[in-house]
Amino acid sequence: MAKTFTPKLSPRLEGIVSLVPKCGTVADIGCDHGYTCISLLQRDRASKAIACDIKEGPLEFARKNTGKAGLNEKTDIRLAPGLEGLKKGEADVIVIAGMGARTIADILTDSMEIAKEADYLILQPQSEIPEMRTFLRDNGFNILQNKLMIEEDKYYFAMLVSAKNEGDTESDYIAPRLRRMRNNPELMKFSKTLDDTFGLDLIFEDKNMAYYLTHVLNEWRAAVKNLSGAKKPDYEKMTALQKKIELADLALELNTLLCGIDERIRSFLDNEYMKRAEEE
Ligand SMILES: C[S@@+](CC[C@H](N)C(=O)[O-])C[C@H]1O[C@@H](n2cnc3c(N)ncnc32)[C@H](O)[C@@H]1O
Repeated sequence: MAKTFTPKLSPRLEGIVSLVPKCGTVADIGCDHGYTCISLLQRDRASKAIACDIKEGPLEFARKNTGKAGLNEKTDIRLAPGLEGLKKGEADVIVIAGMGARTIADILTDSMEIAKEADYLILQPQSEIPEMRTFLRDNGFNILQNKLMIEEDKYYFAMLVSAKNEGDTESDYIAPRLRRMRNNPELMKFSKTLDDTFGLDLIFEDKNMAYYLTHVLNEWRAAVKNLSGAKKPDYEKMTALQKKIELADLALELNTLLCGIDERIRSFLDNEYMKRAEEE
């Protein structure tokens, strides 16, 4: 008997799939290869899948892969932009991954009612992560969990989001410590920017954030150095970068403190601090 096709997921896709709560129907918007739907069905995380894409080419690819996996009967393949191929309430979970934050924000804005009717959304913007979080908060979505994935030295962020669930039950996947913090308005006054920019749960609980924060700190410090060496320095840009550096520094201190970081990372970070101290 021919072996059934099981897609091998990259760390980025694995992270996205791992955020999907067990559900009835999952919709993957911008499905391309169709791997997300196939994996969710094969892992019994969903009993039915709707794979949507704005282009016929990717849908053809998804159709072929779904067929190889023997999942044609459980998968609806639909040509539609954004959430327009879905009826209100049809999908319990909606995945939108591998697109820019602006495209994702436009897709949600264009079909806000459908997006809010879903129990959960899993979003993985390729860029402008803080702007995505701010957009979600401003539009009535709760960010229940952030996830950092590292693939070939690139950092990807995914988030479990809901307009219906507020992160106040066990099944909302939110760490109790974070829930307490987010429910404290006084505390959130100063930590909202930190939460939007980096995700408090990642700062609190993910050791890999130290790598990411060190990476962006190096990038931003180099950018400030370049700007300050320019004939006509762009002071506005420099000030904005300095603010980001201060915030990332604080996030790194907190992450180092709270995550009980292991020796290997600690020595890596110590080297970074030494380098910085030498430069200063
Ligand atoms: C880079 S691929 C990402 C594929 C997959 N979601 C992943 O994360 O690996 C982006 C896919 O989104 C589709 N796409 C772009 N804009 C879209 C929109 N507004 N509605 C639906 N699909 C869209 C593209 O055609 C493409 O197949």
